[in-house]
Amino acid sequence: MAPVAIKEKIFNVGVVDWDIRDFHGYSTYKGTTYNAYLVVDDKITLFDTVKKPFKDDLLHNIHKITDPRNIDYLVVNHVEMDHSGSVPEIIEAIKPEKVFCSAMAKKALEAHYGSHPWPLEVVQNGQEISLGQRTVRFLETRMLHWPDSMFSYIPQDKLLISSDAFGQHWATSETFDDEVALTELLRHAAKYYANILMPYSALVQKLLAAVREMNLAVEMIAPDHGLIWRSRPDAILEAYDVWSQQKAQRKALIIYDTMWHSTEKMAHAVASGLAEEGVSYKLMNLKRNHRSDIVTEVLDTKALIFGSPTLNNGMLPTMADILCYLKGLKPTGKIGSAFGSYGWSGEAVKDIVRWMEEMKIEIVEPPIRVQYVPNHDVLAQCVELGRRIGRAVKERTA
Ligand code: FEO
Repeated sequence: MAPVAIKEKIFNVGVVDWDIRDFHGYSTYKGTTYNAYLVVDDKITLFDTVKKPFKDDLLHNIHKITDPRNIDYLVVNHVEMDHSGSVPEIIEAIKPEKVFCSAMAKKALEAHYGSHPWPLEVVQNGQEISLGQRTVRFLETRMLHWPDSMFSYIPQDKLLISSDAFGQHWATSETFDDEVALTELLRHAAKYYANILMPYSALVQKLLAAVREMNLAVEMIAPDHGLIWRSRPDAILEAYDVWSQQKAQRKALIIYDTMWHSTEKMAHAVASGLAEEGVSYKLMNLKRNHRSDIVTEVLDTKALIFGSPTLNNGMLPTMADILCYLKGLKPTGKIGSAFGSYGWSGEAVKDIVRWMEEMKIEIVEPPIRVQYVPNHDVLAQCVELGRRIGRAVKERTA
């Protein structure tokens, strides 16, 4: 990717990673980008670097604008290695006068890369530095995505460099939101939010309130992944407001796996009950859907209904996978239930319910289990469970 001017004398010198397909458990089936921003001012400043294998591409991009040795300042907004992986080599190449980062980032940089005589300068929340014509204000955004994270705001350009926040894992030849379909862009942003930021929703709410209180004029939001919000920063800010409130729609998700189709039949029967109540639903077979796509659906769905047969005194491994992943993402305000078949011991449903209770999912009674194959009566019970969940969804999303 060639550098792209995003504002006068401000360039995205980052790289596109077309090949990545897994990002710590998240299916990045459309790749991603590692954006880095170069501001050409009296003090030439680079905001973030890129994943280590792409360091030469970053240097190559910088070269197209200026000799990297002309860079005065490096800002490390976030230490996760997709952004800091090439910090040691970039510092070696550019020999910056100063490297700005948060106090937590200083510790994290040392923990990742050891002690070096780097010119690290810790900045505080709200602190400003001058680049010449421009100033940069640093805003600490702890846990969005790591304790070290911060935003960099340039008031003269009304530009918010937002690190992980407002990003998307989507490799494109385009750079800006108005060069792609907004619905698809928001879909990628929702997946990103659900899989990365959902556990920190309360902090996102606080951050949005703080930004409103500071009355920051934001004309452009430049995240470190994906496309830059040039035309519709309002759209992503509004979406983050909705997602971080975990506002659920009148929807249900049936997440299941099956061994000999018994649990699958139960899943379809539960779906019939939901349909009778006029509640929108999706069936997501764990053999056909990646956990990160399921979690994207979870984001705005009220009811989560899990189905697994019993295997070796427990649930199927695919079900354990999604429950473990989901628990870490801390969804809130959900209701749901569980179902499944068994041969002789039948622990799966009980174990699923225990996980659901740990996630504070309100259980709609009764979870249903059946020995071997569901007959007409059992399927009728599953339909009734679907109806009951459907009614509860309607009551709670009215
Ligand atoms: Fe894109 Fe938390 O790193």
